[in-house]
Amino acid sequence: MQTLIVYYSRSGSTRTMAIALAHGVGGTLRELVDANARTNLLTAAMAALFRRPARLFNPDYDVSGYDTVVIMTPIWVGNPTPAANTFLRTVNLTGKKVLIVALGESGENLATSSRLEQMARARGGQVLGVHHIHGLNSSGKAGPSATAEELQRVGEHLADLLREPQDHEV
Ligand SMILES: Cc1cc2nc3c(=O)[nH]c(=O)nc-3n(C[C@H](O)[C@H](O)[C@H](O)COP(=O)(O)O)c2cc1C
Repeated sequence: MQTLIVYYSRSGSTRTMAIALAHGVGGTLRELVDANARTNLLTAAMAALFRRPARLFNPDYDVSGYDTVVIMTPIWVGNPTPAANTFLRTVNLTGKKVLIVALGESGENLATSSRLEQMARARGGQVLGVHHIHGLNSSGKAGPSATAEELQRVGEHLADLLREPQDHEV
């Protein structure tokens, strides 16, 4: 099984988990680098809210060498990030198994999962599952942030799930 792990991370938590997942599954990491560093949280939030794309630095949409593609994004105001929007609107996922991982400060966000799932399906992907992971608490409203160790453990757990035979949802 050749696995590509595509992720965007502004403050590092998605990256920590992506690295642990890639290590656990023996996969290839590909970071989506937003040309806009998104230091202004208000404009970052607005871009996500209006489902804008991002201009990516050196984008690579070729997934032809992989049978499984993991797409990891933080949730911003109940939406995928602009970088994830760009990738998911461009990549051809036909014939690919797709696992979606969304990080947020709060628990499950069904609207976001359904949106991410629809986006991957619209590009031809066979969605194995959508996982919501507790990441960093940036607003101070949702309790403590996940620690680096917790994020690594979840990444390793997702790798275990991916290594199992996939005749069921992951
Ligand atoms: C602009 C902005 C909006 C956010 N909106 C949400 C949200 O609607 N729901 C949520 O659970 N977390 C939200 N978060 C928290 C992030 O999703 C969370 O901190 C995540 O772990 C960040 O990932 P990163 O460290 O890889 O950038 C938001 C963070 C930012 C910066």
